[in-house]
Amino acid sequence: MQITRCASLFFLLTVICYSPTMQAHDPITTKVTFNKEVVRILERRCQGCHRDGGYAPMALETYDQVRPWAKAIKEEILERRMPPWNAAQGFADFSNDRSLTPLETELLVDWVEGGAPVGDAKNLPKPKSPDDDAEKPGLVVAGESSAPVKESRWISAWRFTPAGGAIQSAEFWIEDAAKKKTYLGNWSPPEQFVEWPDGVAQQLPAGSRVIVALHYVDNSAEASPAPHPPVSKNRLELFFSSKAPAHPVRHLDLACGANTIPSGLEALAVYPQNAMEMEALLPNGSMDVLGLFRPDFPSYHPTYFYRQPIAIPAGARIAAHSVDNKASCKAILAYSAELRRRR
Ligand code: HEC
Repeated sequence: MQITRCASLFFLLTVICYSPTMQAHDPITTKVTFNKEVVRILERRCQGCHRDGGYAPMALETYDQVRPWAKAIKEEILERRMPPWNAAQGFADFSNDRSLTPLETELLVDWVEGGAPVGDAKNLPKPKSPDDDAEKPGLVVAGESSAPVKESRWISAWRFTPAGGAIQSAEFWIEDAAKKKTYLGNWSPPEQFVEWPDGVAQQLPAGSRVIVALHYVDNSAEASPAPHPPVSKNRLELFFSSKAPAHPVRHLDLACGANTIPSGLEALAVYPQNAMEMEALLPNGSMDVLGLFRPDFPSYHPTYFYRQPIAIPAGARIAAHSVDNKASCKAILAYSAELRRRR
């Protein structure tokens, strides 16, 4: 009697513990679950592209979407192909670095190797509610250009929301009344909110307008390529600072070879359009690496934002060279005037 009760209790416990996660061929050998650790890592590092209507070919949002990709995910992250990030580690530190940390990689690999269990639904993160207190943009550009602004404004932040996964990248320009164009910024997936450091902003002069240049994913090889989403569905939001900043943002075009700089400056961000390496050659003979951008994901060109602005003194030069023998280097460096340092 006792043995039977014990045995049936054991059977019951086995069913309770294992039935929700049981897979036909994969015994569960890990405590890491989708609903607890994995979904949070995917949310932080992957879903910006891997979501419904996103840039990547498949969504990685729900367990059912992710489970068939488990083995591929392990392979992609161990080979460091995902998430795409062309900046080599250990050369310059970027605030928008989306690479997985060693712990995140370990958790994902453990999960895949341990049978990819779903876990308890009560551990799922709460859905995000829209932020009602979010600051309202000062200007919204829906489509390819805004109307000319009446008075001069200072752009301290911006956000671009593409009309769908067909948009591979976008560039933003300021065009003045004489049709002279000044670079403003670019967008690459996943969508990002860009905010310059305190006291740094770019001027949008009176009478000028903002232009959005869209680049689409090449789907010409597909049998029946989907039509592009309406241009007016793309949305660039610009946020203005209330007063003129101490340090206006400017941009410098870099090419292969030694580039002279206009004055001492603080490098804020760099937008490399090729695989290339860049370093600042300082007047005292030393060198500061500004970044090594590999050709791993050739169609992917985000802007890389320095975690700390890099001071480059007057008299320095910026050397740029190709790292994939294409002999082409094209990059735009965003900078502000040299911040005055306390002695
Ligand atoms: C910047 C956008 C972006 C981010 C972020 C991103 N991916 Fe991807 N991913 C892509 C694109 C685009 C493809 C299709 C690649 C191709 O066709 O070359 C892809 C393909 C994949 C594939 C399929 C590879 C195959 O076998 O075909 C896997 C698996 C994957 N990603 C996993 C991940 C994981 C896991 C993360 C987060 C840790 C991630 N991705 C983050 C854009 C992204």
